[in-house]
Amino acid sequence: MSYHRVTLSKFLLERRKEGAIDPELASLINDIESACKYVAAAVSRGRLNTMEVNVSVNVQGEEQKPLDVIANDIFLKICEEGDQLQGMVSEEMEQPYIIPPEHKKGKYLLIFDPLDGSSNLDLNLTVGSIFSILKGPVGNEPLKEHHFLRPGREQVAAGFTLYGPTVMLILTVGNGVHGFTLDREVGIFTLTHPNMRIVESTKEFAINASNERFWEPPVKRYVEECIKGKTGPRGKDFNMRWIASMVAEVYRILIRGGLFMYPRDTKDLSKPGRLRLLYEANPMGFIVEQAGGMISTGRECILDIVPQSLHQRIPVILGSKEEVERLNQYHYDYDSGKPTEFDSPLFSTRSLFRND
Ligand code: F6P
Ligand code: MN
Repeated sequence: MSYHRVTLSKFLLERRKEGAIDPELASLINDIESACKYVAAAVSRGRLNTMEVNVSVNVQGEEQKPLDVIANDIFLKICEEGDQLQGMVSEEMEQPYIIPPEHKKGKYLLIFDPLDGSSNLDLNLTVGSIFSILKGPVGNEPLKEHHFLRPGREQVAAGFTLYGPTVMLILTVGNGVHGFTLDREVGIFTLTHPNMRIVESTKEFAINASNERFWEPPVKRYVEECIKGKTGPRGKDFNMRWIASMVAEVYRILIRGGLFMYPRDTKDLSKPGRLRLLYEANPMGFIVEQAGGMISTGRECILDIVPQSLHQRIPVILGSKEEVERLNQYHYDYDSGKPTEFDSPLFSTRSLFRND
């Protein structure tokens, strides 16, 4: 065994020396690392820890699992005590959490999904935490909701943790994407996957196919062409995957490429997509771009969108560059009314989203 490994703390120290991050940001990432270790411990104990916690309904109208509540509390407590934050926004809280005056006021804002994919918890499958860090207002300006509503491009760091067979933390501070594995016995995250890159072309895609009848024509076209395989227009066979846990899907794409979509659909017109912009799409977008991949709604790059509300939903298409570009092109063709080889009675149905 080598004892001279690069730990997450050492990695952050090196980035500080290079001037890539400031000491306060490094300290905040260390706090997030600690929170993730506690969440990992809680997740691995499963129902042993959660017999007594009350279950309620969160702002999305979803039932909060006991571990959602536990993970949210762990993030709040550890990160507020680190003195690097002005406030936090979480999937599990309707309003921003403003750091109380007994703590020193920091520079940063933390936005997080404490337990992504938590519908998988009962099944003992991989779940994770997602985080996004922004700079807060400077001076004496009081922190308000609108300070969190910044485009993803302004993130200074983002990452996610996977609570799977191995616990991993994937991080970007804007100089590539780096993966750390938790050595559970010694409690240290060690750099095991430096400079992760998403291959440009792929033969794998992920979508919840049970929503097919609600998809827009460009998405139907893409999936249909993939399914046609070698004998279709793509000339190659594709695999389809759906873990129902975005953290696990994005990790797979970092390892071997692929495409992940939760596109806009007509299932519920009040929800333009399933995933949340601030704490799911933006941090994953920053990571994917830093690894050489792309993220889009099909019509625009997600990282350029100015958020309208804390829990806003957004269509997400992310992964290998060539595939995201192809989907952008299919959306463009469709929106501009360009006829395609794909136009057949089955797919020429008008979309509810079209204005003409
Ligand atoms: O947080 C949203 C999420 O759980 C993602 O992790 C996952 O990709 C998606 O929802 C699963 O959606 P569905 O339940 O439609 O399969
Ligand atoms: Mn989530």
